Amino acid sequence: MKASDKAFAKINISLDIVSKMDDGYHNMLTVMQSVGLFDEIMIECTHGEGVDIDSDLQYIPGDERNIAVKAALAFFAYTGIKGFRTQIAIKKNIPVCAGLGGGSADGACVFMMLDRMFETGLGAADLRKLGGSIGSDVPFCMKGGTMLARGRGDDLSELPGLPRCYLVICKPPFSFSTPELFKLIRCERIRARPDTEGIVEALGKGDLCSVARRMYNVFEDVLPRGERDIADIKNALLDGGALGAVMTGSGSAVFGLFDDRIKAGKAYEELGAGYADCFLCETI
Ligand code: C5P
Repeated sequence: MKASDKAFAKINISLDIVSKMDDGYHNMLTVMQSVGLFDEIMIECTHGEGVDIDSDLQYIPGDERNIAVKAALAFFAYTGIKGFRTQIAIKKNIPVCAGLGGGSADGACVFMMLDRMFETGLGAADLRKLGGSIGSDVPFCMKGGTMLARGRGDDLSELPGLPRCYLVICKPPFSFSTPELFKLIRCERIRARPDTEGIVEALGKGDLCSVARRMYNVFEDVLPRGERDIADIKNALLDGGALGAVMTGSGSAVFGLFDDRIKAGKAYEELGAGYADCFLCETI
């Protein structure tokens, strides 16, 4: 049995942290959007046992630390299916440690593909439970589109889609550690927050400018280093005509939202001259 599919990246249009939970995780309020930047996943299941993974990026873990392997193991444990050797091949296009949900997208894609290949017909509740057990962003990546995420990031409500626009995504050559950034957050000391309610309202009206004006990511207030690059990329995007620019997730990728294809293309070319990880795409 063989199949292939695309695993789409996500961006956080807004990211707010409401409170710290007793288990150490944080209560989020974030508007998430899938974008047309994707990894390519191939899966082959033959008789045998175990899960192998092969990726074109050498530093991606090839064992159970890889979220795609975790997803396959969780799928077989949950469904009780035995007697198959699963080979996963991933062509990475989404930069890693970027806040673009690359690992979560791969894990989500593996779940959905195995569910189809083995015709297990897992329902939304099963998939959310399975996805949430391997990563907070996995349930969103399974659904895609435009969603308001609460709780760990896995309590999802569908939102009206972002009006058609162009995204320039740029990742500087360093990353932030997600758990370390969360540790730096003191909810009571957060100075500026995104206007999530306003974003939801603007999405309802299909008003891209209003969405862009209200975007914000509270992690931007606690960046330990590389702050300059994040600010420089944001400024370059805004100078290039972006309606708004913000860091996605725990970074370090930044995106700018454009309503004009020509301006977006120019900003992409200019930033691409200085940063290897630069992408021009649309929402999906
Ligand atoms: O769930 P995931 O593995 O993506 O989370 C990575 C880390 O980010 C967690 O170990 C936790 O430290 C932090 N986190 C958090 N609150 C969330 C999501 C993640 O504190 N809602």
